[in-house]
Amino acid sequence: MAVGDAVLNQFEQTKKEEVVAEGKKLKVGIIGTGWIAESHIQSYKRMPDVEIVAGADLIPGKAEAFFKEWGVEGVRCYPDHLSMLENEELDAVSVCTYNMTHAVCTIDALERGVNVLLEKPMCVTTEEAVEIIRAEKKSGKVLSIGFQPRFDPNMQQIKKIVEAGVLGEIYYIQTGGGRRRGIPNSTFIEKKTAGIGALGDIGCYSLDMVLNAIGYPKPLTVTGYTSDFFGKSLEYSLPENANRFNVDDFAAAFVRLEGDIILDFRVAWAMHVDTPGDTIIFGKKAALRIPSTDCWNGSVGGPMTIYHDVAGQRVETVLPIIENKGMGLFDRKIRSFLDAIKNGTAAPVPSSQILYNQAIIDHIVKSAAIKKEVEVEIPEI
Ligand SMILES: NC(=O)c1ccc[n+]([C@@H]2O[C@H](COP(=O)([O-])OP(=O)(O)OC[C@H]3O[C@@H](n4cnc5c(N)ncnc54)[C@H](O)[C@@H]3O)[C@@H](O)[C@H]2O)c1
Repeated sequence: MAVGDAVLNQFEQTKKEEVVAEGKKLKVGIIGTGWIAESHIQSYKRMPDVEIVAGADLIPGKAEAFFKEWGVEGVRCYPDHLSMLENEELDAVSVCTYNMTHAVCTIDALERGVNVLLEKPMCVTTEEAVEIIRAEKKSGKVLSIGFQPRFDPNMQQIKKIVEAGVLGEIYYIQTGGGRRRGIPNSTFIEKKTAGIGALGDIGCYSLDMVLNAIGYPKPLTVTGYTSDFFGKSLEYSLPENANRFNVDDFAAAFVRLEGDIILDFRVAWAMHVDTPGDTIIFGKKAALRIPSTDCWNGSVGGPMTIYHDVAGQRVETVLPIIENKGMGLFDRKIRSFLDAIKNGTAAPVPSSQILYNQAIIDHIVKSAAIKKEVEVEIPEI
């Protein structure tokens, strides 16, 4: 580049994230070809350095129909994840199964030297999360957890605000989310497939939004509550769903985090109000309000406000919504995982952080069962 060009181009935005490294195509397999696998296959199809070669699903014929529907030819289909892993030489898999098989599929893949993009929530219990991380460490492979809101510029702004010290030392956070009526059905409402209900399904996103912003401090104690009034009720659910509903549809908790930070959390698939409240991060210098958000959809619920004092005057600074330019969030989630494999860099959403997310969820369940505060116990990794 000529010297003049360098001067003229010095303010040009670099688009590093969009660049796909040249070279061999990564051989990818999809485990579980249900609803979320549709987003994975669409994103993989948009990646020029990916070849989707295999898929597996426990339901006979489901994987075959799935790849046909999405127009991907020549994919070898298997009746379960293990037969796929045993018979294929894969670079990466997406684990898109229901929560109860997240751990086994992920561990089996890592043990065979395959990089894993694991859908959220990481799994069901703390012990499973620990087993997953042990397998990850042993394998030296990339394991990233599928939280696509991490790639939203407004979500990233929350972390930047905290890290810039705008709020000062954080001491209290209220967060959560929910829907007035929005209980999913299919595999989400039974323990044998989902393990946990609203708490794991959408609660994990609210937790990630704030915990990632403050650097994922270790959870110490949890007082948790869960209920299932709506899911089990014939007044609010169809009989075929109410009769098999046995997970939570609402959860609340008071969590003590390392650094003397309190987390006040609630999440609902159904309730008699439109929202369980805004997310508010209280700092010693300022507070940040994030309008009530369906954060599982990827972004904040509206312009955020910082409440602070300027020379003794109480003021509010409203942050305009940042438009997400370029790749969609799901494509960024897939791309960042592929880039980590190709470049040998760290997982974009590391298990070491999501372990604490999972431990909070699991200890809410444990505390709710005995109706007492519990200490968070995480086995040595
Ligand atoms: N990131 C997101 O935005 C998002 C959105 C929806 C769901 N999810 C997550 O994705 C996961 C799957 O959700 P879904 O709605 O696609 O569920 P689903 O029930 O539609 O699909 C899961 C599929 O996995 C298959 N399966 C289970 N164990 C298997 C195994 N051992 N080998 C092969 N196949 C197996 C099942 O037969 C089923 O077809 C859940 O954990 C959910 O929380 C993420």
